[in-house]
Amino acid sequence: MSFIQLEQVSKFFHDSLIPAVDSLNLSIECGEIITLLGPSGCGKTTTLRMLAGFEQPSTGRISIGDQVVYDNHKSLPPEKRGIGMVFQDYALFPHLTIEKNVMFGLNKWKQKDRKDRALEVLELVGLADFADRLPSQISGGQQQRVALARALAPRPHVVLMDEPFSNLDAGLREKMRFDVTNILRKANTTAIIVTHDQKDAFAVSDRVVVMKDGIIQQVASPRDMYRCPKNCFVAQFVGKTNLLTGRLEKDLKHVATTIGTVCLPHYQTKEMCETVKLSIRPEGCQIVAEGDGNYNGKVERVTYSGEYQELYVNLQSDPSSEPMVIYAPIDQDIQIGSTISFNIKTDLVCVVE
Ligand SMILES: Nc1ncnc2c1ncn2[C@@H]1O[C@H](COP(=O)(O)OP(=O)(O)O)[C@@H](O)[C@H]1O
Ligand SMILES: [Mg+2]
Repeated sequence: MSFIQLEQVSKFFHDSLIPAVDSLNLSIECGEIITLLGPSGCGKTTTLRMLAGFEQPSTGRISIGDQVVYDNHKSLPPEKRGIGMVFQDYALFPHLTIEKNVMFGLNKWKQKDRKDRALEVLELVGLADFADRLPSQISGGQQQRVALARALAPRPHVVLMDEPFSNLDAGLREKMRFDVTNILRKANTTAIIVTHDQKDAFAVSDRVVVMKDGIIQQVASPRDMYRCPKNCFVAQFVGKTNLLTGRLEKDLKHVATTIGTVCLPHYQTKEMCETVKLSIRPEGCQIVAEGDGNYNGKVERVTYSGEYQELYVNLQSDPSSEPMVIYAPIDQDIQIGSTISFNIKTDLVCVVE
């Protein structure tokens, strides 16, 4: 059995007929860092709060470690679930020192042990020298590390973090993704992080859970999620992509689309001529010398990201379709209005639902 299990968990708020979370099944292993990723309102926070015990599921069963924390018959209160929660606004007590903030969660411990443990976790998050300061006397990133130290102090089974990076500006955000993962790994703890930001999710997690309308769309490692998105929603939510529809050819490995024939990485088990949807990543399109590629198009727009050039290309074979997004190296000279030729790398093509 997995360390944390949610089985058929649903949540209907008040008398709403639409569930905020719909028959959710999820197993999490000990020591894993998992993120719940999805657009606003898809049920991430509700799922986290049901795990923590702040919200009661309408139906289903939740277990953490070796105990059932929620089912038809019982519901353990949050303090009995062995969870450490980091709130979005950190929720530090402004009038207490950093050390006292961390000690707060250890109220059942002996005074001496409380102090020792607080210093130990402050050491872990790299803030031992700041123990006597007030929250207002440290930076946002440091406040977040204090909140994490406080959550870790009682040695919880699992740490839950709701949008931990959303209050941080871009530069600090990147650093905190790294710091938070490092601390969680060092503490050897299981963690569930909620975010609406794909970059956050990919940077910090072993596995990502993509949700939409209260329903899990896919659970996979960042790499697998990017390379093999299960459906159109995941393909578009996780990075940029080109979605095409076509008919499967007789050999079950090529698809006839409006831009031409596209080769698939695997043979399909579907019927010949069946309609299939394809996701083609922008970096799967490789520009070659004019006339040498299987596909040709006119460059309509070029945006520089710093790391690559993002091209919007109108296909000659199908001028009426959406332009394709293609990434080109930054040093390649590409003029708006010019014609380019490209090939599609088979392993960045994926059949989606
Ligand atoms: N306390 C509440 N009462 C009624 N509806 C709620 C409550 N909390 C959340 N919801 C609804 O449940 C859905 C999921 O919300 P939430 O879990 O907060 O989404 P997310 O965290 O993914 O943005 C939304 O439609 C939201 O309006
Ligand atoms: Mg939320």
